[in-house]
Amino acid sequence: MPLPAESRRKSAVCGILSPGAGLPPPPHNSNEIRKLMNTKPRQILVTSALPYANGPIHLGHMLEYIQTDIWVRFQRLRGHECIYVCADDAHGTPIMLKARELGITSEELVARIGAEHRRDFADFHIGVDNYHSTHSPENRELATHIYKELKKHGHIMRRTIRQFYDEQAKMFLPDRFIKGTCPRCATPDQYGDACENCGATYSPADLVNPVSVISGTRPVEKESEHYFFKLGDFTGFLKGWMTTSKLHPAVRAKLDEWFQVGLQDWDISRDAPYFGFEIPDAPGKYFYVWLDAPIGYMASFKNLCDDPKKNPGGKLRFEDYWSKDSQKELYHFIGKDITYFHTLFWPAMLSGADFRTPTAVYAHGFLTVNGQKMSKSRGTFIKARTYLDHLNPEYLRYYFAAKLGAGVEDIDLNLDDFVQRVNSDLIGKYVNIASRAATLLQQNFEGRIGNPNLPITSNLFNQQTDFNIDLTRSVPQAYEMREFHAAMNIVMRNAERINGSWHEAAPWRPAQVADANASQKLHDICSMAIQAFRLLTIALKPVLPQLAANAENFLNIHELHWNDINNPLPEGHQIRPYQHIMTRIEPAKVKAMLEASKENLTKPSEKTAANMEPIFPEISYDDFAKLDLRIARIARAEHVDGADKLLRLTLDLGGETRNVFAGIKSAYAPEQLQGKLTVMVANLAPRTMKFGVSEGMVLAAGPGGKDLWILEPHAGAQPGMRVK
Ligand code: 2FM
Ligand code: ZN
Repeated sequence: MPLPAESRRKSAVCGILSPGAGLPPPPHNSNEIRKLMNTKPRQILVTSALPYANGPIHLGHMLEYIQTDIWVRFQRLRGHECIYVCADDAHGTPIMLKARELGITSEELVARIGAEHRRDFADFHIGVDNYHSTHSPENRELATHIYKELKKHGHIMRRTIRQFYDEQAKMFLPDRFIKGTCPRCATPDQYGDACENCGATYSPADLVNPVSVISGTRPVEKESEHYFFKLGDFTGFLKGWMTTSKLHPAVRAKLDEWFQVGLQDWDISRDAPYFGFEIPDAPGKYFYVWLDAPIGYMASFKNLCDDPKKNPGGKLRFEDYWSKDSQKELYHFIGKDITYFHTLFWPAMLSGADFRTPTAVYAHGFLTVNGQKMSKSRGTFIKARTYLDHLNPEYLRYYFAAKLGAGVEDIDLNLDDFVQRVNSDLIGKYVNIASRAATLLQQNFEGRIGNPNLPITSNLFNQQTDFNIDLTRSVPQAYEMREFHAAMNIVMRNAERINGSWHEAAPWRPAQVADANASQKLHDICSMAIQAFRLLTIALKPVLPQLAANAENFLNIHELHWNDINNPLPEGHQIRPYQHIMTRIEPAKVKAMLEASKENLTKPSEKTAANMEPIFPEISYDDFAKLDLRIARIARAEHVDGADKLLRLTLDLGGETRNVFAGIKSAYAPEQLQGKLTVMVANLAPRTMKFGVSEGMVLAAGPGGKDLWILEPHAGAQPGMRVK
């Protein structure tokens, strides 16, 4: 050493010795960013969107939680106060119905799912300061308060609307609980708001043959008085907020579109039965889940402030963060699909109730897996828990970081690329620096670091070198701007530089030469590698907190902070013997995870209203006992003149015969049935039909047409036997 000076182009490999300009910060709002980067300690409150408490956390949720957590950890590492709060979104019809299906109360369901969600997030190293629930006293108080303020200022009105009602279940039906045939493309079994086949959007009244998903009956239209939030009152305010808040250009463009169309009143009430908070002075009316959901952000923060165990000494104060004149920063990370709620309803509600509004709303795109929407049958609908059963959470944290930017583009988890990228970057480029250098350092120098002022090491800390500029400026700027992919690229480019210097120095050769000069060179290159590894660890720490903790342990140091980038490990510092700080992804484990995701699908407990015909409302045993089901022998089966669908069956009940018309002609020829045993309802009131009187009914399963199967008892059953 020293290594020859390199041109900037070539410095991708050996540039730690060459002065350079580093990577320029990404262009947009860079002034703003520079200002933020140089400020005194900031006080920041951050949220991720609240997951519904009726199902498991999946990798789609994890994309957002990982994105938020990286940003939060980065801020903390830089010495800012950054509070991160979340909660479960516990209200609404689906949660109420799910609890009914499981035979438990909504409260029990919410508690059970809340515990699972907390565990999943914790195991992915999501460092929330508080994880609360929207079904909480704090949220009830805040939602009620905000509603009353909005009402006091004239922003709430009542209006009667017509809505579909399930007379059997005795409840109004959300659009998603009505299915029918698409009015545009005639695909059956489509939801009440949109067709999955042709993409048409419509209202449930437009469906052909609408059916309630809850009872299977045809819903009727019924009137009900609803409460509305007059969003239009806030048009001027929202246009102003939009210009002062930090929004991505894509989000801004969306807002412009909405302003063009005009802001509509928002229906904020739902009728009983509903799981939520009852609206004050409006018995039987509940706040729509989306009214109290974002208020859950405040409620979670309030719960944190009010709990002396979580907030010792009461340092955090609710008012400091939420009062109208608060100077603290407030950021919401969300998926792009809920932008309307967060950039229109939410700031308007806050403003109307005299609270501060968000500093920014950061929307991200959706997660696809192998280029497609997550799919249960392909096994790509991957639950957080299934992932954790097979793979290290930090693999995914790194992969998402390597792909995430500030925009709203979708992010693809390509599983082959995932394996390749994580193994090549984290193990091949970063971890290897430590493992190789540590071995030589242990063998030759008792694991002690050499003099950091020797040229090759000191260049890591020289503010003129690309390496130093990248780590002290470009990487933090990229983090700040949520351009995590850029941050990861810069880090890996520098890991390559270090590896390049290592290979050029070829330290395994001088180790064999027993002269002092060679030994010095060997010590210097090994020390440089360990110092560089430590610096790269700092740069990766927001993404890989566990890996960083393992590295800190190996380096035998306290917790690293961003400022440590400016100081080397001192001469003589002794590192610990190297142990794996991360191992490669084994592709077999990815495969096993996909298999397990497919298996999850077939468990009966996973069945939802969407893939199974709904179960009818419960009946009592007495109701059931009224049915007289009998074994019958099909003595004769024949066509009926003029009937397209019917066969006439003469059923022998062991002494008595019945004449029954059955709509099974599409599935059976008469000769297939003659002589067979089946099951009939024997005490059904006789029905007069066009072709004669039908004296009972045979039982069959299946959707219809060719797919109909009549029941047949096991051998031994005799005509006339009661089925019970
Ligand atoms: O879309 C969802 O999953 C909602 N539960 C998000 C709520 S975010 C916030 F407003 F509470
Ligand atoms: Zn359609």
